[in-house]
Amino acid sequence: MTYAASPTRYDKMQYRRSGRSGLILPAISLGLWQNFGGNRDHDTAAEILAYAFDAGIIHFDLANNYGPPPGSAEELFGTVMAREFRPYRDEMIISTKAGYRMWPGPFGEFGSRKYLVASLDQSLTRMGLDYVDIFYSHRFDPNTPLEETMGALADIVASGKALYVGISSYPEAETREAHRILKEMGVACTIHQPSYSVINRWIENDRTIDACSELGIGIIAFSPLTQGVLSGKYNTGGKDGTRGGNANSTLRASHIAPNVLEAVERLMPIAERRGQTMVQLALSWVLRRPEVTSALIGVRNLEQLKDNLGALDNLDFSDEELAAIDAATRGGQMDLLPRPQGWLR
Ligand SMILES: NC(=O)c1ccc[n+]([C@@H]2O[C@H](COP(=O)([O-])OP(=O)(O)OC[C@H]3O[C@@H](n4cnc5c(N)ncnc54)[C@H](OP(=O)(O)O)[C@@H]3O)[C@@H](O)[C@H]2O)c1
Repeated sequence: MTYAASPTRYDKMQYRRSGRSGLILPAISLGLWQNFGGNRDHDTAAEILAYAFDAGIIHFDLANNYGPPPGSAEELFGTVMAREFRPYRDEMIISTKAGYRMWPGPFGEFGSRKYLVASLDQSLTRMGLDYVDIFYSHRFDPNTPLEETMGALADIVASGKALYVGISSYPEAETREAHRILKEMGVACTIHQPSYSVINRWIENDRTIDACSELGIGIIAFSPLTQGVLSGKYNTGGKDGTRGGNANSTLRASHIAPNVLEAVERLMPIAERRGQTMVQLALSWVLRRPEVTSALIGVRNLEQLKDNLGALDNLDFSDEELAAIDAATRGGQMDLLPRPQGWLR
């Protein structure tokens, strides 16, 4: 059956501007990192993506390596684009990235001009698109001059293959430098994509969030549930089918350490008092900061997506609630993607 988007799709979602740009994103965006790869059939993927779009989620986040296997999430999204979403392309913000290992040899990862340009061409082919809305440098490359990486992003904008460009997981100093170089070339660094959650606050600690605010760069926070840890499911032990129950997953045992689980436990009564589920508390907490344009979630099924969307019903926090959350999570902090410090210092 042909998909027809819901006429009420813009009624409930909140939309926020990315920094000082014309890019506007839904408060909740959907990423296709782990749950839309080669094992996912088209119809289930289309059902989840269509439900998201009908709920006002107009932003879908991808990267060259999403799957598994790498590339398969873009391919699957391409089939949904072709079969369901094509009439709605101009309503959508679709992003992709390059930075992590995608093919063998010296030009299959990091930040060279050769890798970024070739990778974007491959991503466009896999998704059946003429352009993406946002293209990211997926990680800082300590060995390639930042002028080259940012120069490639600027040229990609000039080529029309991306409308906006951004950076992902760049620490504070590297963020400032990327912004400066792009600005000199007349291109805005429109958006930063770091990990951020109530138990993963590195962007607050190294002041990347302050740099983004000062420079007018929007923030889209990835893994706001710390890959599911903040749902509380690992406190109750039910690991079946989850990332934490998969030995090869990106959610490692160190991420679900006892001190982290204790912090999650202490958050539970706070969520209950707010009339929220744990994931709703976690998402609304990330969105409390005006610098955060969007919370970038991943979902394995429709039930998770519905639960997460409920966060939009209560985005306000009292000072007492915020203090209680800080106290609950003290001692339970972690960094999903530890970065070498001092690259540009
Ligand atoms: N730029 C980067 O370097 C980078 C890195 C990572 C992610 N990202 C982006 O961020 C997106 C989100 O990352 P993420 O998937 O780690 O985000 P997340 O929202 O923190 O974690 C998603 C996982 O949490 C669990 N979950 C979600 N909703 C739930 C619910 N209502 N109840 C119980 N469990 C729930 C599910 O785990 P189970 O499957 O275990 O049930 C789901 O797969 C990615 O798709 C990608 O677009 C970017």
